[in-house]
Amino acid sequence: LATIEIDIASVAPGSCLSYKWRGKPLFVKHRTPSEIAAEANTPLSSLRDPETPDQRTPIKPEWLIVIGICTHLGCVPVPNSGDWAGGFYCPCHGSHYDNVGRTRKGPAPLNLEVPPYKFLSDNLVLVG
Ligand code: FES
Repeated sequence: LATIEIDIASVAPGSCLSYKWRGKPLFVKHRTPSEIAAEANTPLSSLRDPETPDQRTPIKPEWLIVIGICTHLGCVPVPNSGDWAGGFYCPCHGSHYDNVGRTRKGPAPLNLEVPPYKFLSDNLVLVG
């Protein structure tokens, strides 16, 4: 399907659920206040692919929506894993992403891709 509607009410704070969109894994991560705080002050100068958390979660900071494909060689990272709390870890070659999907360690050159999406209501997101 070109678009997918996701009921995010079932994604508890801190958890990350996987969906499928255009044949790709899609992660919906519900960021907790402490996870949001953890990335609020990361200096952009320390990032390989500098983007602010606001750029990565443009509509609501508690919701991160990314394509679950490692930007190194395309493996599927593991959510809520790795060296950054609430982040992602790709076991293929050891890439770590933070809880807004920014590459932080390992060979991945770019952040996890944020697809186009919008909120249809408080609990309903349209991706695509
Ligand atoms: Fe993810 Fe290489 S494919 S680290």
